[in-house]
Amino acid sequence: MSRHLLSISDLGADGIEEVMALTDSFVEVSSRAIPRVPALRGKTVVSLFFEDSTRTRLSFETAARRLSADVMTFSASSSSVNKGESLRDTVETIEAMGIDAVVVRHAGSGVPWQVARWLHGPSVINAGDGWHEHPTQALLDCFTIRQERQRRGAARPAEGRPALDGLHIAIVGDIRHSRVARSDVLAFTSLGAHVTLVAPPTLLPPSLVGWPVEVSHDLDSVLPKLDVVYLLRLQKERMLEALLPSLREYTATYGLTRERARLLGDGALIMHPGPVNRGVEVAAEVVDQPSSVITQQVANGVAVRMAVLYLLLGAGVELVAA
Ligand code: NCD
Repeated sequence: MSRHLLSISDLGADGIEEVMALTDSFVEVSSRAIPRVPALRGKTVVSLFFEDSTRTRLSFETAARRLSADVMTFSASSSSVNKGESLRDTVETIEAMGIDAVVVRHAGSGVPWQVARWLHGPSVINAGDGWHEHPTQALLDCFTIRQERQRRGAARPAEGRPALDGLHIAIVGDIRHSRVARSDVLAFTSLGAHVTLVAPPTLLPPSLVGWPVEVSHDLDSVLPKLDVVYLLRLQKERMLEALLPSLREYTATYGLTRERARLLGDGALIMHPGPVNRGVEVAAEVVDQPSSVITQQVANGVAVRMAVLYLLLGAGVELVAA
């Protein structure tokens, strides 16, 4: 693995499989009474979040602590950014304290690449940049699909075939503003899945040239064929104009209502990166039904981020119990 994780395309199919294989060990570590290994003792991981976040930030910080790293937390809202300090000065100040990795979330697409250019030693992990990418979300999504299919006794891919070989996955909703969708499309298709984007035309990216996907505007006709339906939140904070007639109309056409969820085949999984707006993109009772693996996604997020931190920072360190 290279020094940074900026895009899911840094990993390719082999890299994603490597992260998933290591994640299995960290799921086991996370289930112990004392879920901690000394792998990153003496290392310092900084979380540098310029945007609101609950799960991604806590997940990275928990992952770093479970590997015995020290964690430094930076919140833009209570930092010298409010006194006019530039991003570059902020990053160089943090590097001067002696750190090993920076986990960056920023509303600007490309910021983690810029941070990687400014830093000399530390690794940079992209925890979501604007509308662009969110690679660890895609990794935990791939891992969750693989794990849930194994748990439910689904047939494994043929020898030598990638983990999601031949699966049908639909990503539904606000794809235009979604970094999760961009990273997921890259990850799912590189692992052999067929991806269909389902959204109103106003919530699709302006161009889909080069996206290895199909597009549909008819969720009802897509649902029966799926192994996974992946719902996205309407990202109102990123919408610059009115793109929908009304939320009610959106739910009526593209929401996974209780009636629509019945169109899914047996064993099909319901996923969402969170935060969920219950009753908008998915009905409240559908979130809680057994085919929904939204909580497992969050749980797996910690183990996946442990694997990423370990691969970037811990190479050569034995993975043993504390
Ligand atoms: C997503 C994000 O922030 O990109 N959430 C997450 O990280 N789990 C998706 C969203 O905000 O809707």
